Amino acid sequence: MQLQASHISVMQEECCSFFREKQLLTFVDGTLGAAGHSSAILQEHPEMTLLIGIDQDPLALTMAKERLKNDLNRVRFVHGNFENLKKYIDHPVDGILLDLGVSSMQLNIDERGFSFMRDGPLDMRMNTEGDLTAEDIVNSWREEELATIFRDLGEERKWRQVAKAICQARRKTRITTTLQLAEIISSVIPRYGKLHPATLVFQGLRLAVNRELEVLKKVLPEAIDLLAPGGRLGVISFHSLEDRIVKECFRHHPDIAILTKKPLVPSREECRKNPRSRSAKVRFCEKLKKNTD
Ligand SMILES: C[S@@+](CC[C@H](N)C(=O)[O-])C[C@H]1O[C@@H](n2cnc3c(N)ncnc32)[C@H](O)[C@@H]1O
Repeated sequence: MQLQASHISVMQEECCSFFREKQLLTFVDGTLGAAGHSSAILQEHPEMTLLIGIDQDPLALTMAKERLKNDLNRVRFVHGNFENLKKYIDHPVDGILLDLGVSSMQLNIDERGFSFMRDGPLDMRMNTEGDLTAEDIVNSWREEELATIFRDLGEERKWRQVAKAICQARRKTRITTTLQLAEIISSVIPRYGKLHPATLVFQGLRLAVNRELEVLKKVLPEAIDLLAPGGRLGVISFHSLEDRIVKECFRHHPDIAILTKKPLVPSREECRKNPRSRSAKVRFCEKLKKNTD
């Protein structure tokens, strides 16, 4: 298994710029990954005394520790899900960043089972110690439950047909690999332009395995609650379902000012250099100072 920090941080300059004008004594990176954003933020904020880096993937923490080895006295690493933010942190913080989804490292390792381009076990867990895998879902969830995932989380137009094809196939033999599943999907979905037929179904499964939308809905109000007055929260999302959750939470939350009326998107240059950044959107908000009159 390659242990290379191949992930390029998305919209790093834009994210850093929102924190640049602030004094950051304490900071939470809820999606530490290979610590690209965190290392830039630590560098720009010598005043910072504590950065709490959370990741549910033990491999990401190993890489982050290596990347941040010169700052270990200022960093606390947490192996866990950011949905438990308030269990890990019991004091106000000056900044929080969430860079959602999977890293390139996770995508590029066959054994993690995230990619329909690579043959691997049907896993898709970001937390390799978690209980539920994509294989469990594909082989044991009812046809209607699979269909709901593909429709609501994958936004796949042929959700019904894919669920049916999977249930037919699994009656003959257990579906255990990414390529086996990709082949079943391709048998009912034609290629739409450049998109691989399995793209949306894999997206839906990944979101279901990791409960990604559910944990995002839970963490946003808790993150805002945790911010000190004047503190800032930034969220980088990678598809419309996530971005909608962030937008709605910011729009209705009474304790914040929205700093990005429209989400920021990566420059053409960044998209060219890092195609994974193409679908990124960043939104920032700031916790209001309480009126003490
Ligand atoms: C896009 S990468 C972050 C990359 C990082 N910002 C960097 O610059 O290197 C997302 C990381 O967040 C982790 N992650 C995603 N959702 C999480 C959650 N709910 N709780 C904890 N970690 C999560 C993933 O395991 C992955 O390592």
